[in-house]
Amino acid sequence: MTALLVELGERSYPIHIGAGLLEDSAWLAGVLSARKVAVVSNTTVAPLYAAAVHKARAGRETHDIVLPDGEAHKTLATLSHIIDALVEHRFGRDDLLVALGGGVVGDLTGFAAACYQRGMGFVQIPTTLLAQVDSSVGGKTGVNHPGGKNLIGAFHQPQAVVADISTLRTLPPRELRAGLAEVVKYGLICDAEFFDWIEAHAEPLLALDAAALTHAVHRSCAIKAAIVARDEREQGDRALLNLGHTFGHAIETVTGYSTWLHGEAVAAGLLMAATLSAEAGWMPEAQVARLSTLLRRLGLRTDAAEVPAAQARAAMSLDKKVRAGQLRFVLMRGIGAAFVTADYPAAALENTLRRHFG
Ligand code: NAD
Ligand code: GLY
Repeated sequence: MTALLVELGERSYPIHIGAGLLEDSAWLAGVLSARKVAVVSNTTVAPLYAAAVHKARAGRETHDIVLPDGEAHKTLATLSHIIDALVEHRFGRDDLLVALGGGVVGDLTGFAAACYQRGMGFVQIPTTLLAQVDSSVGGKTGVNHPGGKNLIGAFHQPQAVVADISTLRTLPPRELRAGLAEVVKYGLICDAEFFDWIEAHAEPLLALDAAALTHAVHRSCAIKAAIVARDEREQGDRALLNLGHTFGHAIETVTGYSTWLHGEAVAAGLLMAATLSAEAGWMPEAQVARLSTLLRRLGLRTDAAEVPAAQARAAMSLDKKVRAGQLRFVLMRGIGAAFVTADYPAAALENTLRRHFG
């Protein structure tokens, strides 16, 4: 097992990473040591992993809150259901919520923990690669509104993150590949050496090699933890974590969140951000080709030809990163050197849209 620390003063917390952590009941009992615990999970993940949490909690009051599976349930109604269960079982501020699942369960549980009695503790046990490298770390919690994704939420940091790599063995391969897009993102943001390492370990990662996955999760979390530690509330550097997301969100919005997984849209978005960076003269075209090859080796799509460029442009104009009419992008001066800018040639964006959209 390896551990990292997200350094946020008295709200600092560890990220434990390794294979088989949930099977180590004695150790897990120490992480989940509150008087009462509610394990929030869903109908897919609870049957696989809730028993391990119960074993660690043997003899102590532990409740299950099992939610329906899917992004469609990341709503205020589901939040209300969690709160109802906490009231019914008379949970107090010193008790603990455990988020056992992917990013949907993590975001919902974290938001319930932020709201209930104005804030109670929670522990993240992420079971998707995306949740292990991204959503479980950093304290962004929330739910969707019919008017948009993640429109309602709060910053509320967990007390600990337990990323058990072994849980990825039951993950559908498509979800694993989507998570790998976020891993590539970290290399692109600030770690060219990590990008080289991913290129050299694409096959072991896809084959669920425990050592390779542990390193990938560890390095990704280390990068995210460092960024969150210096900019918890996204006043500056944390925006770098949105590399590829402006284009990715446009793909998700235009296709109605139905055909592309978030990580898949981010993968295509990463290549579009690289293309725009090259079109603006900042990134060598050879590095764009390198990224495209890596994404394809990881089984990720790199174009969005079915999305009309005009619709993508319209979706992007509603992005939260628009300032004074000019869209801000996270771009790159090369692999491992991302920066935020609204100062790029309009023609470079038009060429990028033409190259990647329909
Ligand atoms: P998800 O939570 O929907 O999980 C994907 C699917 O995998 C689900 O069907 C789930 O039940 C299943 N699953 C989870 N673990 C499994 C396992 N070990 N074995 C078998 N099946 C398993 O999706 P996700 O990609 O983990 O998360 C996406 C969500 O995360 C979105 O709502 C997004 O907004 C949010 N997110 C939040 C942050 C943040 O910083 N808070 C960052 C990125 C994404
Ligand atoms: N996933 C982006 C962030 O946590 O800021």
